[in-house]
Amino acid sequence: MQLILIGFMGSGKSTVGNLLGRRHNLPVIDLDQAIEEAAGQTIPEIFADHGEAYFRKLEHQVLGAVIDQPGILATGGGTPLREDNQALLRSSAVPVIHLRASAKETLARIGNAKNRPLAKGLDQAGIEALKKQRHQAYQACADYTIETNHLSPMEVTLAIEARVRF
Ligand code: S3P
Repeated sequence: MQLILIGFMGSGKSTVGNLLGRRHNLPVIDLDQAIEEAAGQTIPEIFADHGEAYFRKLEHQVLGAVIDQPGILATGGGTPLREDNQALLRSSAVPVIHLRASAKETLARIGNAKNRPLAKGLDQAGIEALKKQRHQAYQACADYTIETNHLSPMEVTLAIEARVRF
């Protein structure tokens, strides 16, 4: 990998990853998509049929399989939670960028989160609580954090380009 994006659901990892990939002619791996391909099921189906623990195992396996591939990796919002995933993210020795947004902004972006089992039904306070719970894990992996509340995806992309050489 040349760059890894981490952050809560709705922080813009996939959108910004795709923009960066296009601008620098690099392949983009979306971990959620890679998991869905490996499982032959959508993420909501994986959660419904097998539960979160199974999803996390699969997520770890797929992360291990893609981490050494070239390009840009957009992780899932929960990827940095496991310590063995943190070790994998750090071991790649490429910049790990944490995209952050407030709970209010996150709620506005993910809406009713039909395709995100862990956000379904969460209100702003619920998102805030989950974000707090995950803060340490994101901090443990991140080389840089970018506050995205007032930035468009292109502005986030430019902020990354100001810090990272491609
Ligand atoms: C999750 C985030 C999702 C997806 C799964 C679990 C999480 O990815 O991996 O629904 O635990 O935050 P996005 O951050 O791309 O929505």
